[in-house]
Amino acid sequence: MWIPFNKPFLTGRELEYIRQAHEAHHLSGDGAFTKRCQAWLEESIGCTRALLTHSCTAALEMAAILADVGPGDEIIMPSFTFVSTANAFVLRGGVPVFVDVREDTLNIDESRIEGAITARTKAIVAVHYAGVACEMATIRDLAARHGLLVIEDAAQAIGAAYRGKPLGSLGHLAALSFHETKNLISGEGGALLVNATELAARAEIVREKGTNRGAFFRGEVDKYTWVDVGSSFLPSDILAAFLWAQMEQAESLAQRRRALWDNYHRAFADLERPPHLRRPIVPRDATPNGHGYYLLLADLDQRQEFIAALRRDGVNAVFHYVPLHSSPAGRKFGRSSGPMSVTDSVAERLVRLPSWIGLEPQQDYVIERCRHALRR
Ligand SMILES: Cc1ncc(COP(=O)(O)O)c(C=O)c1O
Repeated sequence: MWIPFNKPFLTGRELEYIRQAHEAHHLSGDGAFTKRCQAWLEESIGCTRALLTHSCTAALEMAAILADVGPGDEIIMPSFTFVSTANAFVLRGGVPVFVDVREDTLNIDESRIEGAITARTKAIVAVHYAGVACEMATIRDLAARHGLLVIEDAAQAIGAAYRGKPLGSLGHLAALSFHETKNLISGEGGALLVNATELAARAEIVREKGTNRGAFFRGEVDKYTWVDVGSSFLPSDILAAFLWAQMEQAESLAQRRRALWDNYHRAFADLERPPHLRRPIVPRDATPNGHGYYLLLADLDQRQEFIAALRRDGVNAVFHYVPLHSSPAGRKFGRSSGPMSVTDSVAERLVRLPSWIGLEPQQDYVIERCRHALRR
């Protein structure tokens, strides 16, 4: 028996919708399925514009262009995040300025952001780790006071909320991922959400290789031409057709994710002994989306032993992230502001448990093996 860390779940209509895209003879971007997916995102998240991209990485790269990040401009972000959060800005010559994360949510520590702001600061990136919201009221206030953009890295956050508002609707811009590990999937995939209305027209141009092709197809201009910087960030309608089958079932998929998360959370309650063993903490203002369950163990040795024990029992538990401030590229292109002690500590102690739809019949086994390994 082998229980993987992730297994993509298909709702059943994915191939039928791809067939329909094929039959409609529209396989490039911005076909009927792309439009359906975008309308669904705009409606359910409440953003001004949703633009599908081929990854969250691509959406972050678009955000860096829209934020007008240039050489030497600084972007404040956590170090405890995926590479793309920083790399998207480095591609434009920007400098990631890393600040530590909070002990409870592992999200950017909002109390450390102001100390990292300089005359070169352009934006703050709020990464909602594991679909649990950052402290957005404080972050938005700070940004407004200092004239900065807020960009939500909501790669893991679709369906989650902060004070009742969907994540992705709270920054000037937000980036979603539909990578096969996420709550809604298309293999690879993503979306840029635009809440700052004044950026919407340019976002469309940036996604279309820097051209005003969108306006041309709507009959607003009589020819299309190169008007700005951009790239090919627009995914094929084949990908959108797959994604639509997931969006149609978003509610039931979310319920199943949350149920898996709740089962884990209940199952480890009696073993919790912070700081030796700690479960995720969800603040009152955050409504999570059941994306991924993790535990924090005592130290690196205990975590590695735990992962090895589970592996012997056929269960694949994994860790992340290598903190960006101590990675080779992070040291070369970015800098830290203040201590990174929480980041350094959690990166050594965090372990992620298998969390995917379809795991249900085997989850009790995973839990039982985890409890066994934790008691050793
Ligand atoms: C926080 C965060 N940002 C960005 C990404 C990149 O997403 P994608 O693989 O869709 O480019 C990920 C991927 O897991 C992520 O977790």
